Amino acid sequence: MEFRAAIVIVFLSCLSCAVCYDYKTVLQKSLLFYEAQRSGKLPADQKVKWRADSALNDKGRNGEDLTGGYYDAGDYVKFGFPMAFTATVLSWNILDHEKAYTKAGVLEDGRKAIKWATDYLIKCHVGDNQLYGQVGLGQLDHDSWTRPEDMTMERPAFMINASAPGTDLAGETAAAMAAASLVFKSVNATYSALLLKHARQLFDFANNYRGKYSDAITDANTFYPSSNYPDELAWGAAWMYRATGEKKYMSVVDEIYPTIQYWDGFSWDDKKGGLDLLLATLTGQSTYLDKLKSYCDYQFTKTTKTPKGLIYYSDSANLRSVNNLLLICLEAAERGINADSYRKEAKKQIDYMLGDSGFSYVVGIGNNYPTHAHHRSSSCPDHPAECGWSFFNSDLKNYHMVEGAIVGGPGANDSYIDTRKDAPHNEVACDFNAAFQSCIAILVELGY
Ligand SMILES: *[C@@H]1O[C@H](CO)[C@@H](O)[C@H](O)[C@H]1NC(C)=O
Ligand SMILES: *[C@@H]1O[C@H](CO)[C@@H](O)[C@H](O)[C@H]1NC(C)=O
Ligand SMILES: *[C@@H]1O[C@H](CO)[C@@H](O)[C@H](O)[C@H]1NC(C)=O
Repeated sequence: MEFRAAIVIVFLSCLSCAVCYDYKTVLQKSLLFYEAQRSGKLPADQKVKWRADSALNDKGRNGEDLTGGYYDAGDYVKFGFPMAFTATVLSWNILDHEKAYTKAGVLEDGRKAIKWATDYLIKCHVGDNQLYGQVGLGQLDHDSWTRPEDMTMERPAFMINASAPGTDLAGETAAAMAAASLVFKSVNATYSALLLKHARQLFDFANNYRGKYSDAITDANTFYPSSNYPDELAWGAAWMYRATGEKKYMSVVDEIYPTIQYWDGFSWDDKKGGLDLLLATLTGQSTYLDKLKSYCDYQFTKTTKTPKGLIYYSDSANLRSVNNLLLICLEAAERGINADSYRKEAKKQIDYMLGDSGFSYVVGIGNNYPTHAHHRSSSCPDHPAECGWSFFNSDLKNYHMVEGAIVGGPGANDSYIDTRKDAPHNEVACDFNAAFQSCIAILVELGY
C-alpha cells in the first residue's frame, strides 16, 4: 500500500508539472531572440555573439540614417508595421508586468528590446507627416539565403506622408512610442519625453491624413497588407490617453469605437482585443469586459483543437495566432474574467508549445526542439564559409541556435517536420515572440 501511495504521489506531482517548465528561462531566452534579430551596429554588451554589424548602409530617400531596428522574421526586411506592433506589445507587457521581468532578472534586457525598436522608429520619423515604414524589398530579400552581415542586395526605403498616408502604420507607431514613453518614464525622463513628442506628432498624422499604409507602401502588400485602419487609430488614441490623460484622445476613441464594435481579434493587423483591454482599465466600464468574455469563452470552447489539444486556427504560423489569443485572455483574467479557467487553459496551451506534445516549438528549450528553423542568419555557417540555397536545401542543421524563438508550429494533426523548407510551420518572427513572451511573463508573475 505504501508503495502504491508513493507511486500515486510521484504521478500526481508529475501531472501538476510544478517544475516541468522554467518560465523564467523561457523569458530570458525570448529576449535573446530579439538580440539575434538586431539590424545595424551592435553594442558591446550584445550577448548573441554569432551576430555582427549589418545593413549599415540603410538610408532614406534623402540620405537619412535608417540603420538599426529589427529584421522581421527569417528574412532581413525591416517592416515597420509589425515592428511597431512588436514594440507596443513588449512595452505594454513590461509596463503592466514589470514584476515578472524583475523576478527573471531581465528587466534591463526587456527595456533594451523595446529601445532597439523605438530608437529606430524615431529615426524613421523624419518629418511631422513623414514616416519611413519599410527598408528592403520583400521579393529581392527573399530571393537570397545569406548572412545579414554579407547581404548585398538593394535595400530601398519607403515612406508614408500627407499625400500617401498610412493611419494604421502611424497609429501603431504612435501607440508603440506612447507605451514605451511610459516604460522609460522612471528610467530616463528625457528619452520618455522624446518618445511622447514623436507619439503626439505621429498620432496627429494618423488622425489628420487617413488611409491604409499598404496602399502607400505597395511592396508591403504581399507581406503585411493592412485590412483597415480604424482599429489602429482607436488603439493609438487609447495609448495616447493612457500616456497623457488628455481628453482629446478619448474623443477620438469615442468617434471611432462604434465603427469597430465587432469581434475582438488581436494581431499585427487587428488591435480590437487589446483596445478593449486598455479601455476596460482606462474607463472602468464593464461593456469592454463583457465583450472580451464572449470572445475568450468562444475561442476556448468552440475553436477546433488538434488531437493533442492545441487550439488550431490555420496551417500557417498557428502558434502566432494562439499566443495572440492567450495574451488577450490572460489579460482578461487579470481583470477578473473567468480567471481560473482562462489561466488553466492558457498554461495548457503554452505547455504544449514548450514540450507537452513531445516536442518543444521554442528553439533551445527542452531537449527536442527545432534545429532547422527557417531563419537565414542562424542557419548560415560563419564567414567565410558559403551559405546560399544549397545550404538551405541541405539537411544540415542550422549552424547557430536562434535561442528563444518560437516557430510557426504544427499543422492540424499535430504534424510537424523540422525543415527550413517549411516556412509556414518553421519560420520565426518578431511579432510571434511578442505575444508569446508576454504570456510567459504573466505566468512568471503568477508564480506558475
Ligand atoms: C510620399 O510617399 C509616397 C509613397 O511612399 C512617395 O511615392 C512620394 O514620393 C512621397 N512624397 C514625398 C514628397 O516625399
Ligand atoms: C537619456 O535619454 C537621452 C535621450 O535619448 C540620452 O541622450 C541620454 O544619454 C540618456 N541618459 C542616460 C543616463 O542613459
Ligand atoms: C488529420 O487527420 C484526419 C483523421 O485521421 C484526416 O481525415 C485529415 O485528413 C488529417 N488532416 C491533415 C491536415 O493531415
